Amino acid sequence: MKITKICCIGAGYVGGPTMAVIAQKCPQIQVTVVDLNAERIAAWNDENVNNIPIYEPGLDAIVGEARGRNLFFSTDVDKAIAESQIIFISVNTPTKTYGKGKGMAADLKYIELCARQIARVAKDNKIVVEKSTLPVRTAEAIKSILDNTGNGVQFQILSNPEFLAEGTAVQDLLNPDRILIGGDATEEGRKAIQALVDVYANWVPEDKILTTNVWSSELSKLTANAFLAQRISSINAMSELCEKTGADVNEVAKAIGMDSRIGSKFLKASVGFGGSCFQKDILNLVYIAKSYGLNEVADYWEQVIIMNDHQKKRFSNNIVQTLYNTVSDKKIAFLGWAFKKDTNDTRESAAIYVADDLINEHAKIAVYDPKVSNKKILDDLNYLETRTAANNASSISSFTDPYEACQNAHAIAVLTEWDEFITYDWQKIYDSMQKPAFVFDGRNLLNGPNLEAIGFVYQAVGS
Ligand code: UDX
Ligand code: ADP
Repeated sequence: MKITKICCIGAGYVGGPTMAVIAQKCPQIQVTVVDLNAERIAAWNDENVNNIPIYEPGLDAIVGEARGRNLFFSTDVDKAIAESQIIFISVNTPTKTYGKGKGMAADLKYIELCARQIARVAKDNKIVVEKSTLPVRTAEAIKSILDNTGNGVQFQILSNPEFLAEGTAVQDLLNPDRILIGGDATEEGRKAIQALVDVYANWVPEDKILTTNVWSSELSKLTANAFLAQRISSINAMSELCEKTGADVNEVAKAIGMDSRIGSKFLKASVGFGGSCFQKDILNLVYIAKSYGLNEVADYWEQVIIMNDHQKKRFSNNIVQTLYNTVSDKKIAFLGWAFKKDTNDTRESAAIYVADDLINEHAKIAVYDPKVSNKKILDDLNYLETRTAANNASSISSFTDPYEACQNAHAIAVLTEWDEFITYDWQKIYDSMQKPAFVFDGRNLLNGPNLEAIGFVYQAVGS
């Protein structure tokens, strides 16, 4: 099957970058990204590529090259579905906030709406690809909806989970460790798998393209994220022990990381992991395990989340304790709000929870993040519903200049590992702060001895 037209439903952090790279690497394929959110689509179409709605290093250049050639952004979902041979579903699958599975299961309502829309609109055979992270066996549900409500056309469902990490999305897409494609073992299933393999083979070596059954593919995505998150919780657990024993978690991480069986990546102790995937996927895994009565499996993975919550709480408690047991009316400057560097995404960022704790203690928070807007910061806090929006607005402010954010502060908390923080004029910052001037480095980013030489009281995670 020769693929000439594909579309992607959902122009978010996954759909946007993934389709931009496919379009760049496959100029012979027309790629249309659609979304219900007209504002988001308008931003993707903004004449100035600096204004696209997602910040990822290198993405603006790729969009600039392919947009209008074979990459299109539109709100006309029906038209894109009707015209395409392959339809990627890349919509959000947040944790349920209501009903059965509340706080744990993935909310599949957006996926189901997409399936129903595809079923209604499709007039010829389609390959439907799950891109969003989904509970294992979701493909079966999508298939059932498509087969029972469609117009008698044939649908093949593939699972093709995305492994890109935000901040390095473009590099991850250009040079993936692997591409995973799950599909049916039938003749039609094999043809559909091959069609998608051929798309990726335009730039990915074939030995990096794995094909499996649908369920293995769906579960591999959850498993990969659970393993990565578990490494972070494991090193964070050790960070607390290091603080009590005089060991240094960076040294421990280095020593164990040199064991080739363990490896050195994802061993950086921090204020806790954030992002839209790790917590959601583990909760989802826990829910699935419980639903099969596998309570020990569920408890095992849930501990990764418990440890992560503990790490965030421990960080805010330590700030309060160190500042003589009160932060009431004290200015605490946050360097960073995004869940990691090089992204404007703030979903589940540790900064949100640390700020919430400190505001409970009546602190005044001043945030500087190079890519996150004041509105986003307030929205994130309001979403927790801990207090009124007016109370949040009077407790937190944001600055476009880091030196202003730190001026007169009693303490600085580093919440995101943005490179630029390292090269600031720390003497100037010190001079403008209340004394003693504290730095709580939640990312072990800054040079502690240098800061101490200036006069700061410096505390890192795990040493
Ligand atoms: C993750 C997976 O890495 C990716 O494969 C999947 O497709 C989506 O989920 P992402 O959430 O974008 O990607 O970023 P990641 O780099 O994994 O970082 C997640 C969180 O863990 C961040 O808050 C990061 O700061 C934190 N982290 C990461 C640590 O605290 N320590 C580490 O050693 C690594
Ligand atoms: P992700 O990180 O998984 O990409 P995002 O929330 O960034 O998640 O993006 C998901 C996008 O999917 C949002 O822009 C949302 O508007 C869009 N979306 C959700 N449901 C539909 C739908 N039925 N049709 C079109 N777009 C949808």
